[in-house]
Amino acid sequence: MELFEAVKGRRSIRKYDPERPVPDEIIDRLVDMARWAPSWANTQCVRYIIVRDPERREKLAGTLSPKNPSTKAFSAAPVVIAFVAALEKSGYYKGKASDDKAWHLFDTGLAVQNFCLAAHALGLGTVICGAMDYHAAEDLLGTPPGYQVVAMTPLGYPAKEARGPARREVSGLRCNETWSALMEEAQ
Ligand SMILES: Cc1cc2nc3c(=O)[nH]c(=O)nc-3n(C[C@H](O)[C@H](O)[C@H](O)COP(=O)(O)O)c2cc1C
Repeated sequence: MELFEAVKGRRSIRKYDPERPVPDEIIDRLVDMARWAPSWANTQCVRYIIVRDPERREKLAGTLSPKNPSTKAFSAAPVVIAFVAALEKSGYYKGKASDDKAWHLFDTGLAVQNFCLAAHALGLGTVICGAMDYHAAEDLLGTPPGYQVVAMTPLGYPAKEARGPARREVSGLRCNETWSALMEEAQ
């Protein structure tokens, strides 16, 4: 699939075909694409937990925010992926933070987008879920101290096509040289 087409065609998928499994080889291909995302000093802090067990998926769904529109998808899709970041690697030099930004979140975002685009290119659906009790998800997944569950997604074949929400106009997103008030939220 052509890159521009993939970027524009990817949608958050919240309805899945429960009868169509996703083999491990495909998930390996997606993790392969994710690991080629850039990361702070190539620290590669992101880890991937593949959850197939229906009971565990159900419990992970329970960590999502109340009324999260993706809750049912965690049971319908055959797989849930948890994106986990190692802390104090990205953005750190010799054990010291280079600034106060959460670079591990940035690196995870890049890897997750690669993962989701690759999934889309193979006909699979994803929906990044961030609104959750991530500590509860960490308990269910058994992540050790020093790792943080950043996001999760169901992974499976879409049950139907999804339409995405509109995007802001390019003209209101960019400016030249210095900040333009045209880019403020109110515009
Ligand atoms: C960081 C992040 C967190 C998100 N969390 C959730 C979530 O908890 N539940 C959900 O249904 N969608 C979630 N989404 C999906 C967004 O709602 C979706 O990407 C956005 O509405 C644009 O739609 P599209 O992905 O189809 O283009 C999240 C997306 C991002 C990037």
